Amino acid sequence: MDSCREFLRLRDIKKTFIDNKGQEKIVLEGINLQVGIGDSLAIVGPSGCGKTTLLLMIAGLIKPTKGLIELEGAPLNGPDRRIALVLQHYGLFPWKTVGQNMMLGVKLQNIQVTEDEIEEMKKDLGIEGLDHFYPGQLSGGQRQRVAIARAILLKPLLLLLDEPFAAIDTITRERLQNGLLRVFNQRRFGFIIVTHNIEEAVFLGKKIMVLNHYGTGEILMMDNPEMGSLDYRNTSIFFERCLELRRVLEGIS
Ligand SMILES: Nc1ncnc2c1ncn2[C@@H]1O[C@H](COP(=O)(O)OP(=O)(O)OP(=O)(O)O)[C@@H](O)[C@H]1O
Ligand SMILES: [Mg+2]
Repeated sequence: MDSCREFLRLRDIKKTFIDNKGQEKIVLEGINLQVGIGDSLAIVGPSGCGKTTLLLMIAGLIKPTKGLIELEGAPLNGPDRRIALVLQHYGLFPWKTVGQNMMLGVKLQNIQVTEDEIEEMKKDLGIEGLDHFYPGQLSGGQRQRVAIARAILLKPLLLLLDEPFAAIDTITRERLQNGLLRVFNQRRFGFIIVTHNIEEAVFLGKKIMVLNHYGTGEILMMDNPEMGSLDYRNTSIFFERCLELRRVLEGIS
């Protein structure tokens, strides 16, 4: 794997919630993690095991019950401009056009972006010519791409994606994965993608983290250093990795 500048570190993270009987429920425990700029991490695990909770903690939106999250060596105390999060359901404003939605964060945060950069981003993600449409006029896949473009234009050092390509047909989904990989290979940032899709995890994760029920107990980390090229899907290593990941997931489900 390329040598990456360490960006994010999680030290012994634990998260509990109070359930509806007033009992404390452990959702995540003993999570240690390191993500560098230039790294990609895929997180997989059964529904309800704490994947979204983990992303929300890394985005600074909820606090761990125990443990420390550090960005470039300093504790994370809340949302941080170096991190962008794309949630499960896009988060686009229906009353704003695609163009306005895409530029929202850039304007709010006063980030310098050139016209060329915007055009290049639209091309990479295949969303040229949609500026004047409203989100309601787009397909799910197009909306997802607008949300991802908006996040990347913020020039984050870490991009967090929560099941970004769920409910999209296989071919479009693979195109979107290719688009994301192209952008990732061109720019310097790290990303974490939560997915239920085995092929997606293997195609996009240089490391793959497997959480088991409630993200507690043994947490498995798989290395997948061969990822990074668009034709990885057609290699025998890719198939082997998918099989290996499937076996691991079957073992915990
Ligand atoms: N604010 C909250 N209060 C109480 N319990 C919560 C809260 N948020 C999440 N949980 C619980 O924590 C557990 C993990 O939730 P989380 O949304 O992180 O799962 P997930 O792995 O993202 O699931 P999915 O794959 O279905 O999206 C679930 O049992 C959920 O009910
Ligand atoms: Mg989730």
